[in-house]
Amino acid sequence: MPIQLTALHPVFVAEASGIDLTQPLSPADVRAINAAMNQYGVLVWRNQPLNAQQQIQFATAFGPLDIGLKRVFQRKERLEDERLIDISNVDAEGNVAKRDSPKNLSNYANQLWHSDSSFMEPRAAYSMLSCLIKPSWGGNTEFADLRYAYDTLDSRTKQAIEGLKAEHYALHTRLILGDEAYTDEQKKLIPPAVWPIVDTHSGSGRKVLFVGVHARQIIDFPTAESRLLLLDLLEHATRREGVYAHEWAVGDLVMWDNRSTLHRGRRFDIAERREMRRTTVNDTPEAMLAAA
Ligand code: OGA
Ligand code: MN
Repeated sequence: MPIQLTALHPVFVAEASGIDLTQPLSPADVRAINAAMNQYGVLVWRNQPLNAQQQIQFATAFGPLDIGLKRVFQRKERLEDERLIDISNVDAEGNVAKRDSPKNLSNYANQLWHSDSSFMEPRAAYSMLSCLIKPSWGGNTEFADLRYAYDTLDSRTKQAIEGLKAEHYALHTRLILGDEAYTDEQKKLIPPAVWPIVDTHSGSGRKVLFVGVHARQIIDFPTAESRLLLLDLLEHATRREGVYAHEWAVGDLVMWDNRSTLHRGRRFDIAERREMRRTTVNDTPEAMLAAA
């Protein structure tokens, strides 16, 4: 059955159906999903509970996978395959993690507007997040379209930011949240990555306003001015009218393009179990080929 798409928001995001994600994808399926991703930025698949291997298989159809910050944390992991990112408040033994545990501390950064792995080169192309257990309240994930953000900037700001670049740093969000327990060695493990603030999204050819909380400094800008401008641009990119809030159901899989959207998790009672599993595809030439 061909892919079916229903828009869920006036600007971006569609619900997708018609493809069984537990089965290997045909090249035509991959093309159809890429085309939909290039148009909508975020695809919501309902009632597609994938097991760990199925989620890895699905993700690898789009390119090589990324393990993000795991190489910095070097913690004991709960999930068996290192290509799965454990977005949960559950410790390595399977218990709900203590409120102030390192596991929770590192997940809290997901509640700030970001693009996955924008602090690395290559950065992330697609992320796929599946919901296994949801809390009784809260815990939505919100998305914002960075193409719409660019398009709706005033012309003076567009001119002011043309050609600017920002440095994105892996531990910046952790430091913002008061999590400073990193050795100098860990702090240097992932050197900052630099990206243009006005970028072109390869899949749609549209300009994007590439901001987010990993961006800590505009290159060659005075620090105060840089911080103010980054905050201002982020505020613009995440105005409510451009935000889609996903209310999870167990068995949902949401995939997003980190080069054209931002996302953040929303607050929930951290003493209640929330289990999500993520796979992320690196933005490499191979991923580009798979997307062609
Ligand atoms: C992520 C993320 C937000 C959430 O998985 O990359 O930011 O709602 N998740 O868990
Ligand atoms: Mn994320």
